[in-house]
Amino acid sequence: MSDIRKEFKDILNNAESYLMQQEQLFGGIIYKTSASKIEKTSAPLAEFQSVNSLDEFNAQISSCKKCSLGDTRKNFVFGVGNPNAKVMFVGEAPGADEDAQGEPFVGRAGQLLNKILEAVQLKREDVYICNILKCRPPDNRDPMLKEMELCSPYLSKQIELIKPKFIICLGRIAAQWLLQTSDSLTAMRQKVYNYQGAKLIVTYHPAALLRNPNWKRPTWEDMQLFQKLYNEQM
Ligand code: URA
Ligand code: URA
Repeated sequence: MSDIRKEFKDILNNAESYLMQQEQLFGGIIYKTSASKIEKTSAPLAEFQSVNSLDEFNAQISSCKKCSLGDTRKNFVFGVGNPNAKVMFVGEAPGADEDAQGEPFVGRAGQLLNKILEAVQLKREDVYICNILKCRPPDNRDPMLKEMELCSPYLSKQIELIKPKFIICLGRIAAQWLLQTSDSLTAMRQKVYNYQGAKLIVTYHPAALLRNPNWKRPTWEDMQLFQKLYNEQM
């Protein structure tokens, strides 16, 4: 291993044990030096404690009516992929195509996500793909905080069942929610966070790349960071 790789690995290992220590001291709350707080906002619900497979979990929650999106959705979009995935991609919410098909990231943004996966030698079937919200917000408006609050215990339970090593968070809205921060995407990317036992990194949403191709380059850099961490750990 080259010196620089070894040095980087040491830094990460030190950071990891520091974070674990912090977690033991303060529970699920991690204080960064900037004093902003990363917190697990939504523990998996106690009512699902006995659920131990994704299919069973999907069956239990797919008629959810906790918020009004349950009245307007065509399909509940639980998530798709390898139940033992090492890598989980988390987007914001289903769009029209996803709502119609009941599968996340199948529209234009999904095609681009598939290409991003290919670029780091991953296939859609290897990873797990889901969203913070399981139902489509009408007219693709941004998710409301209340909706994310009600829905994200489902994501927490999915993470608990899959136990990914890496979570790649797609876009500002999903990242701000998971990390409980109002930081910009630029401030959140190129960092490694700890989330429910996984290393979490943040990058641009593929739909944003369709609007602004200049962000493809930084997205590529983020995926290279991911790949480096992945190769070191796996
Ligand atoms: N290989 C897997 O089996 N799962 C992943 O998430 C990535 C690579
Ligand atoms: N955008 C998202 O955030 N998720 C999807 O599933 C599709 C588009």
